[in-house]
Amino acid sequence: MKEILIEGRRLKLRKANTTDLGYIMALQYAPENLQYIVPFDEDYHRAIIASDGSEKLDVIIEEIETGASVGYFMLRELDSLCAEFTHVIIGRKGLGYGSEALKLLLTWTFAVKKFHRVWIDCKEYNTIALNLYERLGFVREGVLREIIETDGVYENLIVFGMLDRDFNN
Ligand SMILES: CC(C)(COP(=O)(O)OP(=O)(O)OC[C@H]1O[C@@H](n2cnc3c(N)ncnc32)[C@H](O)[C@@H]1OP(=O)(O)O)[C@@H](O)C(=O)NCCC(=O)NCCS
Repeated sequence: MKEILIEGRRLKLRKANTTDLGYIMALQYAPENLQYIVPFDEDYHRAIIASDGSEKLDVIIEEIETGASVGYFMLRELDSLCAEFTHVIIGRKGLGYGSEALKLLLTWTFAVKKFHRVWIDCKEYNTIALNLYERLGFVREGVLREIIETDGVYENLIVFGMLDRDFNN
């Protein structure tokens, strides 16, 4: 059975299952996404999907009209007050799905699950994502300097946070 987290106008968010593994791996490794994320291997995702979802969750973004998968999120630290949104990947880009899906995810996180804080990090040259997070009300909190290495180059990550009161304003 498909476990729905939340449903909006065009999209619904549902818990991923093992039949989604191929889709998740393909999205992570598509060159247009891979440059902006750090991928996890299939066993890592398989373990998340097999878990009860209380600590980590793989979430599929589904188009309501067609039932097609259009993106995916990974959530971590769900057993704390401060959830982490890690992978934010839209397969069908430029249709407003990233914005709509993140608004749904924020509603689920704060209004349904009552988290105090959500945070996310983002490569400093990922301007589409940086702008998107700021427009949704995330606050730019700092820079993690040279915290990851990609092809022999150290890269900075920008940390964004949102508190429950930021969301409710
Ligand atoms: C970042 C990402 C999730 C955005 O999803 P999306 O569905 O394409 O975004 P949307 O269509 O909702 O657009 C969101 C905003 O970005 C803008 N945007 C989208 N694509 C753009 C592009 N190619 N160039 C410039 N602006 C763009 C839109 O105009 C929109 O701005 P608005 O809110 O002022 O109207 C998607 O591009 C993606 O999966 N990127 C690769 C993975 C990634 O970078 N993930 C984030 C890691 S931190």
